[in-house]
Amino acid sequence: MEHIILSGIKPTGQLHLGSYIGAISNFIKYQKEDDKTFIFIADLHALTLPIDPKELYENTRDLVAFYLAAGLDPEKVAIFLQSQVPAHSELGIILNNYAYMGEMSRMTQFKDKSAKLNEKSIGLGLFTYPVLMAADILLYNAEIVPVGEDQKQHVELCRDLAIRINNRYKQEIFVVPTPVIAKTGARIMSLSDPTKKMSKSDPKGDIFLKDDLKIARKKIMSAVTDLGSEVKYDKENKPGISNLLTIYSCLKGITIEEAEKEFVNQRYGEFKKAVADVVCAFLEDIQSKYTKVIESGIIDKVLHDGALKASKIADETVERVKKAIGLYSF
Ligand code: TYM
Repeated sequence: MEHIILSGIKPTGQLHLGSYIGAISNFIKYQKEDDKTFIFIADLHALTLPIDPKELYENTRDLVAFYLAAGLDPEKVAIFLQSQVPAHSELGIILNNYAYMGEMSRMTQFKDKSAKLNEKSIGLGLFTYPVLMAADILLYNAEIVPVGEDQKQHVELCRDLAIRINNRYKQEIFVVPTPVIAKTGARIMSLSDPTKKMSKSDPKGDIFLKDDLKIARKKIMSAVTDLGSEVKYDKENKPGISNLLTIYSCLKGITIEEAEKEFVNQRYGEFKKAVADVVCAFLEDIQSKYTKVIESGIIDKVLHDGALKASKIADETVERVKKAIGLYSF
């Protein structure tokens, strides 16, 4: 039997090569014919830090368009907005009661993000965010959650919550999910500082999916590289070259070893040009598909149908939980 798969992306900032390689490209690999894949847009999560309404709206539309442009098929996959399936909020509120302040305070992303804010302006939503994420996963009885490395801790918290609640009520209320992290590409690094993750807030170090091709090429050609001259994967001593090799091999669908073989005796400059060619060809293709999706006007229908499919399962889960914990249900 096929596994149930769920994953999502937050519509904050622009999509970049890290979100594509670490997440979207894996969603495509997992989609099956049998309505067991749920890929959503975590728009309620986007509210955890201040965001301009227009930007949120446009990011959301873009994210759906890029899901479709990358090859997610709405016939096979439920593609939906978190905010259009009220069960997410409902289960999130219930789960809040089973999560502990201590474990929430240990979430690395919360620590990193809150450290950048004035203590008085840290929203409660930022703190409880992983609980809502647990609700996202548990609602669909997801067994497999494909994510990049930075989300592993959140999926593990979800596992802990599911096990804790199942034990407390002595029944299998929730399916316990497993995070699946790809061997290559689960942490694409910044081009301007290859010791940091490529994230949505670093225009120099990011390749955005909407980048102009000339700008993208320039970013790759000026990517920080390392001492030495050999094109070899060595994360410790050659983080810049290793990152470019990862990007190259993921976009070409080959292994790191195969990529290394292509560049034996080649200089960094020649290697970077080959990476830029592959990245630009990828961007050109996905951008033209993105434009077609936007022009086709299908986004609202995809989201409407997706929310219906998702709600059916999600509502069943909320009913099951309510019954198990003693909330009155008919
Ligand atoms: P988000 O929106 O920050 O990132 C979306 C996905 O992209 C992966 N990713 C990366 N992978 C490789 N290299 C990078 N530089 C890189 N940057 C981001 C992330 O690991 C993630 O898989 N909390 C989630 C969204 C979410 C979710 C969920 C995911 C909400 N509920 C339930 C799975 C299941 C988030 O903020 O991801």
